[in-house]
Amino acid sequence: MSNSLKRSEIRKLIRQRRCALSSSQQELASQNLLSKLTTHPKIQQAQNIAIYLARDGELNGETFIHWCWKNNKNVYLPVIHPFSKGHLLFLKFQAQTKMKMSSFGINEPKLDIRLIRPANRIDIILTPLVAFDALGNRLGMGGGFYDRTLANCQQANKNTQNTNPYPIGIAHDCQQVEQLPIKHWDIPLAEIITPTQIILNDSVSY
Ligand SMILES: Nc1ncnc2c1ncn2[C@@H]1O[C@H](COP(=O)(O)OP(=O)(O)OP(=O)(O)O)[C@@H](O)[C@H]1O
Ligand SMILES: [Mg+2]
Repeated sequence: MSNSLKRSEIRKLIRQRRCALSSSQQELASQNLLSKLTTHPKIQQAQNIAIYLARDGELNGETFIHWCWKNNKNVYLPVIHPFSKGHLLFLKFQAQTKMKMSSFGINEPKLDIRLIRPANRIDIILTPLVAFDALGNRLGMGGGFYDRTLANCQQANKNTQNTNPYPIGIAHDCQQVEQLPIKHWDIPLAEIITPTQIILNDSVSY
């Protein structure tokens, strides 16, 4: 793929590529993801893990959510902040959690302040993404939601020992590009996990 493609062009191309995966390819991909995640030492040690519900051809982590519940780990899902534009809240997700459709057409837990956990008290955030590169750069859907979340956490953790959350991108292999055109506000991921690879970003310290 040409390096000169714009961010919007990469988003379009990769979303098409991801949506073209067959249901058996998707199924195999999520089985392979499950084994990558459940054998990952940082995930095995984590108590609080945020993930997303797959849509638009995204790699599906539902079986991983069930593994977390079985292994007494708390699972959180992102919810669009009701009045702080461009921001996310993370709400505890259980089998009985009441859900609603967000303004972006994404199924999310119904807002209940008792279920909110600050992002810098979540051990690992598994982020969705549209495209990634081998350096750990992430291109999302274009809302800046995860960049803001991670920037806010870095700010809140300043002068403390806390480095949470540890951000891991989750993607199909076909979402990899040679080099993403990054912007100054993009926060790189610590790792990217695909059904066949674990890419470690050596340039970030966690
Ligand atoms: N920390 C931040 N503070 C304020 N604005 C931000 C911040 N991070 C990103 N933005 C803004 O968000 C917009 C979208 O950013 P970007 O294109 O990187 O989205 P993205 O990372 O693909 O989206 P998402 O994380 O929602 O999937 C940009 O206009 C950018 O200025
Ligand atoms: Mg970004």
